[in-house]
Amino acid sequence: MIVRSAAGVVEVLAPAKVNLFLEILGKRADGYHEVETLMAPVAIYDTLSFQPNEGGSIEFACERALVASPGDGTAPAALPEGSDNLVVRAVELLRQRKAVARGAALRLIKRIPIAAGLAGGSTDAAAALIAASLGWGLHCSPAELSEIAAELGSDIPFFFGRGPAICRGRGERVEPLAGLGRLHLVAVAPPAGLSTAEVFRACRPAAQPCSPASLVQAWAAGRLDEVGRLLHNRLQPAAEGLSPWIARLKREFDRLNVCGHSMSGSGSSYFGICRHARHARRVAAILGARRIGRAFATATCH
Ligand code: C5P
Repeated sequence: MIVRSAAGVVEVLAPAKVNLFLEILGKRADGYHEVETLMAPVAIYDTLSFQPNEGGSIEFACERALVASPGDGTAPAALPEGSDNLVVRAVELLRQRKAVARGAALRLIKRIPIAAGLAGGSTDAAAALIAASLGWGLHCSPAELSEIAAELGSDIPFFFGRGPAICRGRGERVEPLAGLGRLHLVAVAPPAGLSTAEVFRACRPAAQPCSPASLVQAWAAGRLDEVGRLLHNRLQPAAEGLSPWIARLKREFDRLNVCGHSMSGSGSSYFGICRHARHARRVAAILGARRIGRAFATATCH
């Protein structure tokens, strides 16, 4: 998160994330799945601005940044508006917990693709909690915000950290990782998204769970080919059964000289590890011309 504050307005740049590793350890009694996942923030940002007011109402406006079309003539997925948006729910929950009488005007500029497994909604919610805590002068600790965040979504607490992390439980128990270099990558969001709940419903927990330890070691040592080989996402077979785009993107990445590729989160976006920034830009240009969705040359941000 990049946070700026001027003239009473707080502005937060909220990054996307990718999952380099995602294992499903089992299904829990509460309906959620026990996961072990390696997540890294990536430099595709939504912008959230927060302006406190004395009126007590929460106003929310959302616009899409100008981005290239998905490439096949379809309209991008709809954004949840008004009180359904996670941003509004996050701010309302914080306001209630802290008995805040003031309101706020929130404005969100979306760049992160929706329903793409890049945690666009989760990062916006984390940004909203940070902005509201600062804008209303609440001085909440990251632990306090994380606790509220976990009530709203499993991926949100990850965004209170500053870099890659292993996340366990539902995803809300975050163990930050240090000493990892920047990874350059290309992410593609196809024209159709996937519902997280549906993908989890269709997934099968691992009979023999894999561990992210070797991948973390390879990343720490800068062995990119090994990082690429060790990418793992247990949700991918379920997503492939629900959307033809996943297998299509896999085939497209197979034809490219990347270190490795995988689906991110519950899909539908897909990413490949590149050797350096120029390589990522080249791969993104090739994929961008194939009408398979929006291609981003990006990098992990720590
Ligand atoms: O926590 P979040 O609201 O992001 O999760 C969306 C849906 O994904 C949940 O309602 C649940 O069906 C599924 N899910 C799961 N196990 C997880 C995380 C999410 O089954 N660890």
